[in-house]
Amino acid sequence: MSLLRTIEEATGLVLTEADLARALRELFPHDAAARAAHAPAPGTPAFDALLDLLVVPESWMYRDPAVFEEALRFVRARLAARPDARLRILSLPCAGGEEPYSMAMSLMRAGVDPRRCRIDAFDLSHAAIARARSGRYTRNAFRGTDLAFRERHFTHADGQWTVNADVRAYVRFAQANLFDLDAASIDAAALAGRYDVVFCRNLLIYFDEDATRRAAAVLSALLADDGLLLSGYAEAPALCRNGFTSQGSRQVFALRKEGNAPAAAPAPAARPPARPAPPAPLPTAPAAAPVRARATPQDQLAQARRHADAGRMAEAETLCRGLLARQPDLADAWFLLGAIDEAAGRTRAAERCWRRCTYLDPQHYEALCSLALLHEQLGDAVRGASFRRRAAQAYERRGGPA
Ligand SMILES: C[S@@+](CC[C@H](N)C(=O)[O-])C[C@H]1O[C@@H](n2cnc3c(N)ncnc32)[C@H](O)[C@@H]1O
Repeated sequence: MSLLRTIEEATGLVLTEADLARALRELFPHDAAARAAHAPAPGTPAFDALLDLLVVPESWMYRDPAVFEEALRFVRARLAARPDARLRILSLPCAGGEEPYSMAMSLMRAGVDPRRCRIDAFDLSHAAIARARSGRYTRNAFRGTDLAFRERHFTHADGQWTVNADVRAYVRFAQANLFDLDAASIDAAALAGRYDVVFCRNLLIYFDEDATRRAAAVLSALLADDGLLLSGYAEAPALCRNGFTSQGSRQVFALRKEGNAPAAAPAPAARPPARPAPPAPLPTAPAAAPVRARATPQDQLAQARRHADAGRMAEAETLCRGLLARQPDLADAWFLLGAIDEAAGRTRAAERCWRRCTYLDPQHYEALCSLALLHEQLGDAVRGASFRRRAAQAYERRGGPA
């Protein structure tokens, strides 16, 4: 089997010969003979090092804040309904730890004791897990405008921010391949059905349909039957074709196992929670406020995003369309409109919007990833691969991970 195929089978990652050649050049910079002669075998340090060069460990703190709010809402309702329960959250893939630490900060702000809610965080990349364990981040990991959480939960020195020990107390990291959870140090049988909440975001965008199907089966085994799966916006449709169902138009990224619709309002707590009512998590996706008459296009776009994050798709669409009527060259607004179309099942309209977005901004990473996934879902592997290549190039130009 070719090395490319071996990697694809082991990890689900759909790569090109050019990706592989670039990574091999980086791994064996002075030794063309080694590059030609050795195909690193799975399980060897060289194979792991090669994977580290092929993955896209792109993440940042509170990426899509509404997702963390939804997770926190779920956790609080569950803890209130089951006062003696200990909940488990999984972040897979966790990249450099930005996602699990964001959730940990939300739990902490809400007064949830780490003994009552633990986060396991796994990633394929050894380098990403080492970075996560170090807990040190550059400015690149903080991309939102509301950074009060950074002052509260990080210590700043020498241009880097290190996550504080009380946040770390919620999270345990391990290197693991999603497709290999029954091997190595992690026993899938012991984990099966045990996670109350699973974050699996921005992973399936690198997979084809077959790997997506396999991944959905693993995620289903890891998630409790009445648990919550949090996906990326562009990934929710693929999961809904493979055993999951969306919570409706309210939050397209919040999924349940098919046949396990969310319970109605959680039962009231049998006894009051041990701690007083907690403050809201940070940063929030605030409820939509009316757009001011002199709001800038960026304000309006942010407002449209907040509508979409809260599942108010009609409002988000109206705002987006109004904005684009006045300023048709706003690439980010075309991207958002495409996501709204895709959430409504209007695949072709989504494609047109994302193409418009990449026409205006050829390096728009999220639109390129969304187009890759969409073409693969439509059975056009060649076009899908071409968008994947462009997304990888855009990612490299953008300067890689935090
Ligand atoms: C773009 S990051 C997503 C991180 C985070 N979930 C987020 O949304 O910000 C993708 C990560 O997937 C990891 N990955 C790729 N294939 C994997 C696999 N088969 N099992 C576990 N992690 C994988 C990569 O190492 C990379 O860190």
